[in-house]
Amino acid sequence: MEILRAKLQQHDATASVIGLGYVGLPLALEIASAGFNVVGIDLDQNKIAKLKQGQSYIGDVSDKTIASAIKTGRFTPTLDFNVLREVDTVSICVPTPLSKSRDPDISYILAATEKIRKSLHAAQLIVLESTTYPGTTNELILPELESSGLRVGKDFFLAFSPERIDPGNTAFNTHNTPKIVGGITAECTEVARIFYSQFIERVIPVSSTKCAEMVKLLENTFRSVNIGMVNEVALMCDVLGVDVYEVIDAAATKPFGFIPFYPGPGLGGHCIPIDPHYLAWKLKALNFQARFISLAAEINGMMPSVVTTMVGEGLNRFSKSIRGSKILILGIAYKKNVSDCRESPALDVMRMLIEKGAILSYNDPFVPSLSMNGNTLQSVELTSSNIESQDCTIILTDHNDYDFRRIIAESRLVVDTRNATKDLQEFKDKIIKLGAGNNVASLKQEDKH
Ligand SMILES: NC(=O)c1ccc[n+]([C@@H]2O[C@H](COP(=O)([O-])OP(=O)(O)OC[C@H]3O[C@@H](n4cnc5c(N)ncnc54)[C@H](O)[C@@H]3O)[C@@H](O)[C@H]2O)c1
Repeated sequence: MEILRAKLQQHDATASVIGLGYVGLPLALEIASAGFNVVGIDLDQNKIAKLKQGQSYIGDVSDKTIASAIKTGRFTPTLDFNVLREVDTVSICVPTPLSKSRDPDISYILAATEKIRKSLHAAQLIVLESTTYPGTTNELILPELESSGLRVGKDFFLAFSPERIDPGNTAFNTHNTPKIVGGITAECTEVARIFYSQFIERVIPVSSTKCAEMVKLLENTFRSVNIGMVNEVALMCDVLGVDVYEVIDAAATKPFGFIPFYPGPGLGGHCIPIDPHYLAWKLKALNFQARFISLAAEINGMMPSVVTTMVGEGLNRFSKSIRGSKILILGIAYKKNVSDCRESPALDVMRMLIEKGAILSYNDPFVPSLSMNGNTLQSVELTSSNIESQDCTIILTDHNDYDFRRIIAESRLVVDTRNATKDLQEFKDKIIKLGAGNNVASLKQEDKH
């Protein structure tokens, strides 16, 4: 442990990151910027080729940052796992999606662990960063690594440290977002703490890998449940005839005990729609039903169909149906100012509208093309004629680039799921806003008793 500690403190260690996506690439570059040599490993040949040419594929990372990290020799992207033999630290940042049956798919973690086991050597630190269910590090990774004959806490060190990156966030990045670390043994926690303290402002040790895994799931379940609650409140406000945004903003003036969450067309991204299922799945195996998680998933999951209902209501005002209507979607990324469409609710809304016979087009300044149902759609330009020719414009993602005043002025009917039209009262007669007291009749639940 002393040898590794000294190497880490003197920035003499060689670090590695497995999986150079939204999480792994910024992490690798942050470690490199602290003066470590970092090897970045990925299976994706295109990504490695781009990185070698100093090109970024992630919005928050500039070409310049990559090019200079490569030029200084601090960052080496590679497809070759043999480099693991030479490195002192390994951070695992591979995907953790859901399988078709909505169960955790930890095959990427297992594949990476097998590669690490083959190269595992004394005085090496292994850290899992991918979000996963509590118990993954000590129940799956530890036995696999110890099958090498090396012992944890003595020969090598194993910890879990959840990534908290928030793509598109300009205030918080890898460097200034506090980091949780939990090791298998106290020595593992300490080595991981020392490592991350070299390039992250604040590192918080916790007592176990399971605790660290649970911290991440609490954070994301907290968001999922609160978004689910506020989505339901938005539906209540529609029925009551109250503007949910006015209610939330007024409640947010309370200086304690209230955190504002806002309604929207549904959950998206790699984390919030997926991670709580990892927790619920693990608890189910322990005979415990995670009720808040399933209720939030149910409410958040119905928001895309709420949006299509709003579109149907709006068109009805013009004696039109969804079938045959021209509908323009604004924003398909799952949140504003990013290009990430993973799990985006826009995809569900689009699928539902296509199924109902709508003639769809979309614009997203961050997503030039999109493949859907085997077809490739191209983002259309927001020219006046492209907007005026539509029967309905739906705001699904309120990117900063949009000039909503012009867009709304040129639209016939607008369905606003993001409160993007809040300052455009003069157009209120053609706007249907989620949770704004439009009293969308079909959102009311029928009393079956
Ligand atoms: N994206 C986020 O905002 C975010 C935030 C916090 C935590 N996380 C978690 O971090 C993890 C990674 O997420 P991401 O968004 O960076 O995913 P990503 O899909 O952007 O990147 C993962 C990368 O891993 C590579 N990969 C897959 N299997 C591999 C293997 N066996 N060996 C080497 N490389 C491999 C892929 O090619 C890809 O480049 C997930 O568990 C996710 O839940 C993501």
